[in-house]
Amino acid sequence: QHFAPKAQPLAGVKLMLTAGPTREALDPVRYISNHSSGKMGFALAAAARALGAEVTLVSGPVHLATPASVHRIDVESAQNMFDTVMAGIAEQNIFIACAAVADYSPKMVASHKIKKTHADNMVVELAKNPDIVATVAALPQKPFTIGFAAETQEVEKYALDKLTRKNLDMIAANDVSSSDRGFNSDQNALTLFWPGGQHRLPLADKTALAEQLLTLIAKRYHDIH
Ligand code: CTP
Ligand code: CA
Repeated sequence: QHFAPKAQPLAGVKLMLTAGPTREALDPVRYISNHSSGKMGFALAAAARALGAEVTLVSGPVHLATPASVHRIDVESAQNMFDTVMAGIAEQNIFIACAAVADYSPKMVASHKIKKTHADNMVVELAKNPDIVATVAALPQKPFTIGFAAETQEVEKYALDKLTRKNLDMIAANDVSSSDRGFNSDQNALTLFWPGGQHRLPLADKTALAEQLLTLIAKRYHDIH
């Protein structure tokens, strides 16, 4: 028997993640959402736990099993996710925003199912949702904060822009223009950027990628703490 001691660079560290899509209700039976599967966020939660972190996973609606020894809180809308994150963020050392949060939600939620009318067109007014990761990164006692940037073009430019604009410590950029990676796929490729550095993680299973990413995050977290 081998009980090789596993390195636990995140032992004693509290880490919160968001994962999956959000659902923005139009009426009691309809919503606006996106194709996020939650796989990357759940893989990151498992990897963080394996590195010793105490993990809280705030998840939108997904069809995934909770990783062992991870505290999971289920939410639906962007506003729910925001409220849940803000309620628990004060005690966190690291925050990873992996969720595909809806940028807008219907201004009015009908309390009854919306009926079809004679009109051929329908207009739904949307209002901007709060930006969870930017709000966390603007806290006076902010945790070490990592965002994701899913882009279909000019990946590096948009990722670096988000890193700066949202005051993040790191950003993982994701090219979702090809269907072999990102969103619904089991594989992904990422480039991690931080002020003054970057590291490319080539196409791999989300599990393997999550381990590599968390190892880099743990290293950078300890470098600056
Ligand atoms: N994010 C968030 N709250 C939101 C929107 C996004 O926390 N309301 C987070 C995502 O979880 C991700 C990062 O912000 O970590 C970047 O998300 P992305 O959609 O790429 O960026 P946006 O700022 O929403 O810009 P755009 O969609 O126009 O590219
Ligand atoms: Ca967005």
